[in-house]
This record gives sequence, C-alpha cells and structure tokens, in this order.
Amino acid sequence: MADKNVTRDLLMDAAERGISYRETIADRAVEPSAEAVAGARNFVEPMPEKGMDDHQVLAMLDDIGSPATITMAGPRYFGFVIGGSLPVTVATNWLTTAWDQNVGMHEVTPATSTLERVAMDWMIDLFGLPGDAAAAFVTGATVANFVSLAAARNRVYANMGWNVEADGLIGAPPVTIIIGEEAHPTLIKSLGMLGFGRNQAVRAPVDKQGRIDVSRFPIIDGPTIVCTQAGNVNTGAFDPIGEICDLVKPKSAWVHVDGAFGLWAAASPDREHLCAGFAAADSWATDAHKWLNVPYDSGIAFVRDAAALKSAMAITAEYLMTDTEFRNPSDFTPELSRRARGVDVWAALKSLGRDGLAKMIDRCCSNARRFAVGLSAAGFEVLNDVVLNQVLVSFGDDATNRRIIDEIQKEGTCWCGVTVWQGKTAMRISVCNWSTTADDVDLSLAAILAIANQPE
Ligand SMILES: Cc1ncc(COP(=O)(O)O)c(C=O)c1O
Repeated sequence: MADKNVTRDLLMDAAERGISYRETIADRAVEPSAEAVAGARNFVEPMPEKGMDDHQVLAMLDDIGSPATITMAGPRYFGFVIGGSLPVTVATNWLTTAWDQNVGMHEVTPATSTLERVAMDWMIDLFGLPGDAAAAFVTGATVANFVSLAAARNRVYANMGWNVEADGLIGAPPVTIIIGEEAHPTLIKSLGMLGFGRNQAVRAPVDKQGRIDVSRFPIIDGPTIVCTQAGNVNTGAFDPIGEICDLVKPKSAWVHVDGAFGLWAAASPDREHLCAGFAAADSWATDAHKWLNVPYDSGIAFVRDAAALKSAMAITAEYLMTDTEFRNPSDFTPELSRRARGVDVWAALKSLGRDGLAKMIDRCCSNARRFAVGLSAAGFEVLNDVVLNQVLVSFGDDATNRRIIDEIQKEGTCWCGVTVWQGKTAMRISVCNWSTTADDVDLSLAAILAIANQPE
C-alpha cells in the first residue's frame, strides 16, 4: 500500500514542475538549444536492473526532458497545426489521470462516460450536425478519418447486400472513392488501412486555393464515397461541401468531411459561412487537440448513421457489459480500453462557453491576418487567401525560403515550418494557440523580417 504522504509529495513535486514549465513557456526560446537536445541522450541506457527513487525519476525527466522540449504549447509556436492546451484542460487532464478510468463501457465508468456524452452533444450542437449522430472519441483526426470511413464502408457495402465486417473485401464488389487532389495524407493512409488502397482513389481537381473544383468533379457511377475537406492544411481553404453534397447525395454517395481544424470554424458566427451546407454530409472528423486547445491526444469522429458506425466498431463478449441501454463508448471506437479523453473536451467547452470558443477561433484568425498584412507590407508574397488561421508566405526561391525558415527556427522567437504547395516552397504559419496575442505576432514578425531582410 502506497504511503499517502509519499504519493502527495510526488504529485505535488510533479505539479510544481509542470507549473514552472508553463509559467516560463512564453519566455523561453521556442526551439530547444542543441545542447539541451543532445542532453536527451542521457535517457538512453540499458534496461535498469534496479529501480530509482520516484522523485529522482521525476527530477531526471524534468531536468533532462523539459529543456529538450520544443515549446509547442507556447504562444509563438506556429508549426504544423498545433493547439496549446488551455490551462483548465491541463488541470482536468491531471485530475482525470489521477482517476485512471478506462472509459470503454458506461456501466464501469459512469462519470467519464457521461462527460463524454455531454461533450459530444455540445459539439453536435456547436457544429450544427444531426442531433442523432454518433461520435467516437479517438486519438486524432487520422483515426477519426479512419473510423468515419469504416462506417462509410459498412453502409455502402450493406446497401449492396455485402457484409464487409464479416466477409471482408476479398471478392467484394468495387466501390469508387473520390478525394480532392489536396486531401490530407492521413486521409489517404486511412483508405489504405481500410483495404481501399492508398492509390486507388479518384482525385478531384482543385482550384488555386486547393478547394475541390465542383465544375470539374468526376462523374459518379455506382457506389461511391466522397471525401471532402474543411480546412486545407496549407491554405486553410474549404471545399464547397454544400455544393458537393447537392451534386452527389442524389446519387446515394456517402460524403465525408475531414475537418481536423476547420470544423471549429462552424463555432464562430464570423466564419461559419465557410462550412455552408456541410451538415448534409454523412461523417465528419475533427481534432480537439488542435483548435479546441486540449492536451494530446484528442480527435472526434461524428457519423450520421450511428448503426453503420456501431456495426463497424462494436464487439460483444460474455464478460463485457455490451448489452446495455446506455451509450457504450467502445461501441464507436477501434479501442476497447482507453483513457477518458472526452473529459478535457467537456472542460474546454464548459470553461469557454459558446462565446469564449468563438472568440478564441476569431482571435487566431485575426492574428493570422495580422501576419499576412505585415508580411505583404514588407514586400513578401502571401500565397493563399487567408480565410482562416493558415498563412503561406514566400521570400523568393526554394533555397531562400529554406534558409530563412531554418534561421528563424534556430533564432528561437517563434517556430514556423516549411511546405511546398502547388509547386512553390513557402513558410507555413498556423495560428492555433489560445494564448497567442497580437504582441506575439508583432514580435514574431519582427524576428522573421529581420532575417528575411538580411543580405545573404
Ligand atoms: C486536414 C487534416 N486532416 C488530418 C490531419 C491529421 O490529424 P492528426 O495528426 O491529429 O491525426 C491533419 C493534421 O494536421 C489535418 O490538417
């Protein structure tokens, strides 16, 4: 039996260290020093024969690990599409970890399962999705895409009289998958994991912002799954999902929306027009660890046809409470056992409210615009229409862009990544963090421009 005081001391020690990390996050260089990164090699050792004192384990983690982290949760990290975890969600995440609940079945974890259900209902309301849609709380948008497309596969095959869960795909009739030319690679990976193949999808042509061009949409013939995107990972652009639904739903196609970050635009009265008509789709994937700013990992799939999702995911066994009147979380996810990630989603939404969430989304978008205006004013080319939180800027040729991006990462004020989009190399700036202020943008702009304006 663990001594109460020993447990308390250890958890307090961890809390103090976590608090210090977060309190200094805005003042640290965003990229860790080469020395700190090299220090992480001290973790590499053979499996220890004897254990170490718990406080020493924690101290080792903090002393070596903390300085070697990139400050992804800080206000000037603009790489990939990375949220920053609202303080309340870090706090609830700690408490939920202390609870250590396995949220697979409602009857054994009623509190966390209820919180997950509430969070699901709130998101359905926020996004304007069908009230009877089912939801799966998964690790991220990759798995949310996978889960959504597993439901699509179930329904499309069931409509042909083929039980894909029981009989698999060997000898199954063909299904056409249509995806945009700029679909996210994780969507393509999901198609591979589902046995549809990574290279079999028909690619729908896109326009100059990476949106599916409806006027050149492939002809639909036979059972079809169409994958659209709310938020292009480079430009932030939205496919015209409502128009695509109008075109393909009369032909009984299943429409999926990959809205890893873009779905959250639906929660802002100023941006919801971007999502026009997307409630007519059949499934939607999003991430809470991106724009809702909850800790990793947290993605959600929503599926209109709850029965299709359940057929694709649910299991039964004599020893499990699967036959229940309650919503059993594991009926909708690939995992049986998993952590109660819905609690952080509930906490973020409860703390922000509809109004606070809209403000957070709008703040990120206006900070992205501020970047674009500053970069254009300095004479650099912003490649995309900045409709959301993503900015692509080019400083010249491929080598110049890569040099500047490398230097800004090393300089440490902020962190931006590189991309090649529609044949052009660019710096990608993604504003996704709840704590980023206009001052952070100005500081970052000054650092970027100082490097970009330097003679080579
Ligand atoms: C449009 C889109 N889809 C899917 C993903 C994958 O999300 P995750 O890394 O959470 O699995 C991303 C990540 O940036 C994305 O932008």
